[in-house]
Amino acid sequence: MRILAIETSCDETAIAIVEAEGNERAARFRVLGNALLSQVDIHKEYGGVFPALAKREHAKNLIPILAAALEEAELLHEDAQNLRTETHDAIAKLLEREPGLDEATLAFLKESEPAAVDCIAVTAGPGLEPALWVGINFAKALTLAWGKPLVAVNHMEGHIMAALAKGSERELEIANVTLPALALLVSGGHTELVLMRAFLSYALVGRTRDDAVGEAFDKVARMLELPYPGGPEISKRAEALRALSVQGRTLNTARPAPFTLPRPMLHENSCDFSFAGLKTAVRNLLKARDDLSEDEKGALAREFEDAVADVLWKKTSRALRETGAKTLAIGGGVSANVHLRRVFREGIAAEFNDVTLAIPAQALTTDNALMIALAAFYRAKRDELANPATLSANGNLALAP
Ligand code: KG4
Ligand code: ZN
Repeated sequence: MRILAIETSCDETAIAIVEAEGNERAARFRVLGNALLSQVDIHKEYGGVFPALAKREHAKNLIPILAAALEEAELLHEDAQNLRTETHDAIAKLLEREPGLDEATLAFLKESEPAAVDCIAVTAGPGLEPALWVGINFAKALTLAWGKPLVAVNHMEGHIMAALAKGSERELEIANVTLPALALLVSGGHTELVLMRAFLSYALVGRTRDDAVGEAFDKVARMLELPYPGGPEISKRAEALRALSVQGRTLNTARPAPFTLPRPMLHENSCDFSFAGLKTAVRNLLKARDDLSEDEKGALAREFEDAVADVLWKKTSRALRETGAKTLAIGGGVSANVHLRRVFREGIAAEFNDVTLAIPAQALTTDNALMIALAAFYRAKRDELANPATLSANGNLALAP
């Protein structure tokens, strides 16, 4: 099955084309094309993702990204096409609220052969609704023009599949996942523990009661006057400091003052999280001080990261014990965090020798369309197709009730 998958839930415009085969026990994926354009530099100025701007950028980028993905897959063939008037008008109507995308799409469809794919998949949520809608309307336009079925994908299921996938950039495999599997989903909008007892069926085990962990990284970074997105910036500083202490060297400037931050809800009897208090603790700490030196910023970044990793690991290990899960998958943008990956690897090795840890390849941690194609494969295999007439964006789409 050849899948063309579209992802526009946040600030990445991405399209992947994947050839998939197999079943829920063992599936293989050959990546034919994978194009992605990040808007990070544009949103940096605002210190976060600005939904109206994200929507406009997706509208501008989708056709170039589609062309790039098809070209890479050797599926882009220029040839004048006869677009029927009804199809033309229906597409124009679908895309009338995506400035620029209507003309670009119609022009593209008139000069390119229908792509040789079996279905079009698109992220239906969760995410920023204006951004999701661009991808959904674009996917609907392609299904109309090319007469292909439409598959709606939950973005978080995509993150789980990216974690379970093993292999290289070009060839991936999801095989022999021992169930039940627990997924820790950590991104800009989500922090939750979800149990997959049977393949593709989910139950919520724990979730944040306030901020998502990625959001906490981004907000703390902003307080430290570090650029958006904050996760990688905090990580860079914290890791630099850890490397120095490992080498036993002292810093060449004044030693950074030690900071202590709370580990919210660590001893509470549940698998829920809370990160708002941690963020407030950083704010209060900063209020009590004048400008921080670069070394002090590093020390605070490290303590923040330690606190986050402590809480995530303790809650996840509690959930592993309570559920008896045999696989632990970590997904979402924050799973890129080097320290978190280390803490989880060491924790699993030390305390759970019967649990398999599944962490996505670095390139698959943050948003991409490949993960959407992986999830779409299983949904399409189950004949779970979306109705193009009724599919809508759902910013709060949940994996589990
Ligand atoms: O999954 P994702 O790309 O988008 C959402 O679906 O939200 O996650 C983005 C989040 C941002 O908050 C970003 O700061 C965080 O992931 N992030 C990181 C790292 N890389 C990205 N957080 C901590 N350490 C990182 N290395
Ligand atoms: Zn994401």
